[in-house]
Amino acid sequence: MGAERALQGRSLVNASDLGLEEYESLFALAESIGRDPPAYAEACRGKILATLFYEPSTRTRLSFEAAMLRLGGQVLSVADPGTSSVAKGESLADSIRTVAGYADLIVLRHPKEGAAQLAAHYSPVPVINAGDGAREHPTQTLTDLYTIRTFKGRLRDLTVAVCGDLRYGRTVHSLLRGLRRYPGIRFFLISPEELRIPEPLRDELAADGIPLTEMPEMEAALPQADVLYMTRVQKERFFNEEDYLRLRDFYILTPERLGLLKEDGIVLHPLPRVTEIAYAVDADPRAVYFQQARLGMYVRMALIAAVLGVI
Ligand code: NCD
Repeated sequence: MGAERALQGRSLVNASDLGLEEYESLFALAESIGRDPPAYAEACRGKILATLFYEPSTRTRLSFEAAMLRLGGQVLSVADPGTSSVAKGESLADSIRTVAGYADLIVLRHPKEGAAQLAAHYSPVPVINAGDGAREHPTQTLTDLYTIRTFKGRLRDLTVAVCGDLRYGRTVHSLLRGLRRYPGIRFFLISPEELRIPEPLRDELAADGIPLTEMPEMEAALPQADVLYMTRVQKERFFNEEDYLRLRDFYILTPERLGLLKEDGIVLHPLPRVTEIAYAVDADPRAVYFQQARLGMYVRMALIAAVLGVI
């Protein structure tokens, strides 16, 4: 039985819900889909994906929907909770049980930590977590790792510098949990004091003996970094505007700073970007964040196909 077969019918709530073999089988499938998309154009014929997004999104929702459409399936979407029964006070458990009657697979984004776990508990069909508050965002990690594997040719023996809002950035939490399982990974965690990674995550990494250095400045890390992962300060998680504005421009990757990055290093960003990467950086071939967004669609195609058991 292939590892992708083992994914059939399963929910994905945390980056660590999948083993490394399952990651690899998804990446191999994503690669094969990317090489020959028409070969998969009918794979999900007759299947329906529901996207329930209770927080703003461009990439994640559209890339899931594009992924399903490119597999020949169909899509139902709640992109604005104000237009759904949530506005009437319906509980998530009830919404999920209802939508599960209409769709074969549910993709959920929700502002509350733990929402995806709750949804997976109540849902008779698989649920994919597309971000639950500041906690996790496992399909962004699939995207990130697939991008690193594509450009660096490996997921082991890498020095990864993660910069920005490490406290509230759910993509960061999932990325660290996904990557730490590969041998030879070393992290530089670059953030202002207030936005350091949450303590439980730091303890998890320390318990595994993962080499990590926390630092307030990016300069020292760049010459050693194979991957620089930039993130946005998560405005929506701040209690006051003043703190957000003070921290928003703490790091700006300019072409001058990029000059310090390893020559074969790559720059990732889950997007959306605000001010943390200057537009002038986009022209550098090491800036691969838009390619990353595209690769995310292929890896989501692989995930959908594997969870629905159509491959
Ligand atoms: C991220 C998210 O929603 O957590 N966006 C995304 O899914 N690509 C990152 C962010 O919003 O900063």
